[in-house]
Amino acid sequence: MLVYLNGDWIPADSAHVSVFDRGFIFGDSVYEVIPVYGHRRLREAAHLARLKASMTAVGMDERLRPVHWPTVCARLAETLPSGDGTLYLQVTRGAAPRQHAFPANAPLTLFAYARPRVSEPTGSAACEVTAVLCDDIRWARCDIKTTSLIANVLLVQEALSRGADEALLVRDDRVNEGAVSNVFAMCGDRLRTAPRSHLILGGITRDVVLELAAGLGIAVEERAPSRTELSGAREVFITSSSREVAAVTHIDGRPVGDGGVQGPVFRRLHSAFQTFKEEVRMGRRM
Ligand SMILES: Cc1ncc(COP(=O)(O)O)c(C=O)c1O
Repeated sequence: MLVYLNGDWIPADSAHVSVFDRGFIFGDSVYEVIPVYGHRRLREAAHLARLKASMTAVGMDERLRPVHWPTVCARLAETLPSGDGTLYLQVTRGAAPRQHAFPANAPLTLFAYARPRVSEPTGSAACEVTAVLCDDIRWARCDIKTTSLIANVLLVQEALSRGADEALLVRDDRVNEGAVSNVFAMCGDRLRTAPRSHLILGGITRDVVLELAAGLGIAVEERAPSRTELSGAREVFITSSSREVAAVTHIDGRPVGDGGVQGPVFRRLHSAFQTFKEEVRMGRRM
């Protein structure tokens, strides 16, 4: 597998980064994951805009290692054997003697590779997950897509140790998002999801689902459900580039809604998302 590192295309085994890289030492680094269908990148411009926003938010100067990401992404996407997968892009503040302050003029470290999609999800269980509620122990800038993911790592591990797939994160009694996903809940006749703020990562899949919901005439309210509202929700689902749109069947071991089966709103949106993906694959949508 060839990876992109600082302007070069190198076999993954021989790609090396300094032990003094600030991504390694401090987690001083941001990243993106871009889904690819039929070699075409889903919402690439939005993903690259978010990468730029993350870099700006942490004061990284892109002139310290200029790159034309669309060219890199196009080449990576071509290497995916089935045409489907994800692209991983990472930018660190580079290698420098260890001190917290930004180094003067250290070139950024740029790394990217393509990961094939293991298999196209099939069957109803492929788009279902279970979840547990966890205190949101992350920092206050969850809108920055940084690789400083220790809190998310611990939260996912907690979910797994409690027999679930995903942790739904509660802060001040609001369920804002998951450890690796955005969260939607049918509360009454409205689809609720947290608004964009510093408390969530503004998911690109979330944006697509909001557009699809608008197209289907589903009423949406961008307000995070409380813990009680979530437990009374008729349907709950999560969105992310890797999981796409997945129904949450159980929360803390209790079935969601009507017996923990996929609800009608989820099914409509899931189906619309499959159509959207096909259109991306055909090059009719981005
Ligand atoms: C914390 C968090 N929220 C939301 C998302 C979903 O974002 P996207 O749909 O852009 O993949 C992710 C994806 O990694 C995430 O880690």
